[in-house]
Amino acid sequence: MAHEHHAHGDDAALAKMLDLDAEVLRPVLTETTAWLAELAGDPPPARVLDLGSGPGAGTFALLDRFPAAEAVAVDAAPGMLDRLTGAARARGVADRVTAVAADLDAGWPPVGAFDLVWASASLHHVADPARVLRDVRGALRPGGLFAVLELDGFPRFLPHDLGFGRPGLEDRCHAALADRHGAELPNLGADWGPPLRDAGFAVEGERVLAIELAPPLTEAAGRYARVTLDRLRAHLADRLDADDLAALDALLTPGGPHDVRRRDDLAARGRRTAWVARRPVV
Ligand SMILES: C[S@@+](CC[C@H](N)C(=O)[O-])C[C@H]1O[C@@H](n2cnc3c(N)ncnc32)[C@H](O)[C@@H]1O
Repeated sequence: MAHEHHAHGDDAALAKMLDLDAEVLRPVLTETTAWLAELAGDPPPARVLDLGSGPGAGTFALLDRFPAAEAVAVDAAPGMLDRLTGAARARGVADRVTAVAADLDAGWPPVGAFDLVWASASLHHVADPARVLRDVRGALRPGGLFAVLELDGFPRFLPHDLGFGRPGLEDRCHAALADRHGAELPNLGADWGPPLRDAGFAVEGERVLAIELAPPLTEAAGRYARVTLDRLRAHLADRLDADDLAALDALLTPGGPHDVRRRDDLAARGRRTAWVARRPVV
């Protein structure tokens, strides 16, 4: 998944997955923006920045939470931003959103000053997070807030024993993915507290937010499970043994005897961690 922003052909699939991710993560987004509203106090943030916005889950959660705010969404992938601006039109908030195509690895884009900056699942992608954190601090008004939402991996959906193949398929997929990510995305699952302090922020708090959806999953969560398994299959083609690849293929074969769509025992289990930091007033 490293440098996915350079692989534009993959954007449509990733954008689709992120839209479904937003469905499943809605309670996490709601809780985090409520926490931000408490910390921001009065007046609420008027200008917010979504860094590595993808198709806009965070942008829209922030616009919902702060109805008078305008948002700037920055992403390196133009396909993501096209999706975001389409969704903004559909939601009737196009006049409150500006999409800026920029690669944060190439430097900080000229986006102005903000009361609130949000970075969800994007900091682990940038090449020099310490520099980006300093740039975020520079873009915040004194007293402004920075929310970092991060994950340590994809959520899990399958029971331990699928009733075919070797039990523990998903555990092996995640172990193989963690191994790949360890090499390609060293900051996935990092503790962002110390780097935030090093960049001059006061960390207001850290919260672990659990995602626990019991079976049966909603239609959107079920689709999210399938898209996630599909991406695991694509990422792990060279890292799983033939039996496990065959089991994944069986789950992903529409209409097949082991089609994951037929299962009513899928759950969604995952975890996000949120840090909220403030640019000190002096
Ligand atoms: C995992 S997605 C998260 C999207 C969204 N924030 C969310 O939580 O659903 C990571 C996003 O960061 C963007 N990204 C990755 N590296 C970037 C960079 N160097 N500059 C700007 N955007 C980047 C990707 O294009 C992608 O849309």
